[in-house]
Amino acid sequence: QVSGYLDDCTCDVETIDKFNNYRLFPRLQKLLESDYFRYYKVNLKRPCPFWNDISQCGRRDCAVKPCHSDEVPDGIKSASYKYSEEANSLIEECEQAERLGAVDESLSEETQKAVLQWTKHDDSSDNFCEVDDIQSPDAEYVDLLLNPERYTGYKGPDAWKIWNVIYEENCFKPQTIKRPLNPLASGQGKSEGLCVEKRAFYRLISGLHASINVHLSARYLLQDTWLEKKWGHNITEFQQRFDGILTEGEGPRRLKNLYFLYLIELRALSKVVPFFERPDFQLFTGNKDQDAENKMLLLEILHEIKSFPLHFDENSFFAGNKKEANKLKEDFRLHFRNISRIMDCVGCLKCRLWGKLQTQGLGTALKILFSEKLIANMPESGPSYEFHLTRQEIVSLFNAFGRISTSVKELENFRNLLQNIH
Ligand SMILES: *[C@@H]1O[C@H](CO)[C@@H](O)[C@H](O)[C@H]1NC(C)=O
Ligand SMILES: *[C@@H]1O[C@H](CO)[C@@H](O)[C@H](O)[C@H]1NC(C)=O
Repeated sequence: QVSGYLDDCTCDVETIDKFNNYRLFPRLQKLLESDYFRYYKVNLKRPCPFWNDISQCGRRDCAVKPCHSDEVPDGIKSASYKYSEEANSLIEECEQAERLGAVDESLSEETQKAVLQWTKHDDSSDNFCEVDDIQSPDAEYVDLLLNPERYTGYKGPDAWKIWNVIYEENCFKPQTIKRPLNPLASGQGKSEGLCVEKRAFYRLISGLHASINVHLSARYLLQDTWLEKKWGHNITEFQQRFDGILTEGEGPRRLKNLYFLYLIELRALSKVVPFFERPDFQLFTGNKDQDAENKMLLLEILHEIKSFPLHFDENSFFAGNKKEANKLKEDFRLHFRNISRIMDCVGCLKCRLWGKLQTQGLGTALKILFSEKLIANMPESGPSYEFHLTRQEIVSLFNAFGRISTSVKELENFRNLLQNIH
């Protein structure tokens, strides 16, 4: 139900779909399969900083131990029998969620060695950014290709709680979000008590939420027997989340926010081209030929993106007067850091992995948008002290964009599936 012109750019959904699905998506997928982009270092063991009562389903200690039947007096046996049935099914559910939500941490010996080399390389480059959590001994590399984002059977109560906290407490939540105005157009100033940038922040988070739900509907666990597991499109699930009537208009709005997020990340990528074009920049894995090849592919993708006519209003977003812009930047940063910490409260580890990766990717995109001038003035060679991206930021930026790009592609698949039904 989303088509035609978007509020955010003078382009229509169909143009974005064509551009993404046929020109960008296939190349991006290829790039993301390369060694540089498939290994992401992440600390999944950080405690949730906001509350203690994380649902433990999806972890070993969530299991409820059923009573042994001869411990129980006869008089209440019938009742306890039922209880233990329930407990058993709860354990099964937990084990199921654990299996599906677990993160596969296996890396080949070869990869482990290579990774050590990368770390040395990263340390020796001009990596002056804040010391990240990835220095923690708890942080580990994971292979993203081995851990695809998909439906995990995880329905812990904290899933909705987390999004609720994000929206209610961390999103500059607008009172009513009836008619999204063009957040990129200048001169609209305040509406519904929110400045355009803050409303844009809300839309980004909503877009991220929509994107994750598109993936979960597209890679739904359709069949789960000991013989085989089958993941695929679940149209019912998709409709429950996005159908205009079933969601009382919310669904199409969420999808518009998804396109908004797509355009914002696209814009960040088009702005950061000079950083990647510098001859000093390498996608370092130690394999010279492959690294050079991947850099070529990366630049090809970036130039494709740059050629896409975005027609944004260049002066309105993130660029007010200097003092205001700095204040806004700081506001965004605080909110964003908070949201990435909330990801530590996600019970299912695989969901936590992808949640962290995507928030870091979006955070990197925002960092780029707030640094447009620095990037434009970057020296062509030699160290750049004003603007820098770490390997982690680069990996998350492209993988996060890869997720949104996959969502746009999946929307086409759902459109076709729905047409075949009717
Ligand atoms: C950070 O998150 C906590 C918990 O939701 C909230 O109480 C606090 O206001 C948030 N701070 C910011 C700056 O968003
Ligand atoms: C699809 O999702 C719905 C929930 O939205 C669920 O009830 C149904 O069982 C799922 N279908 C399959 C084949 O798994």
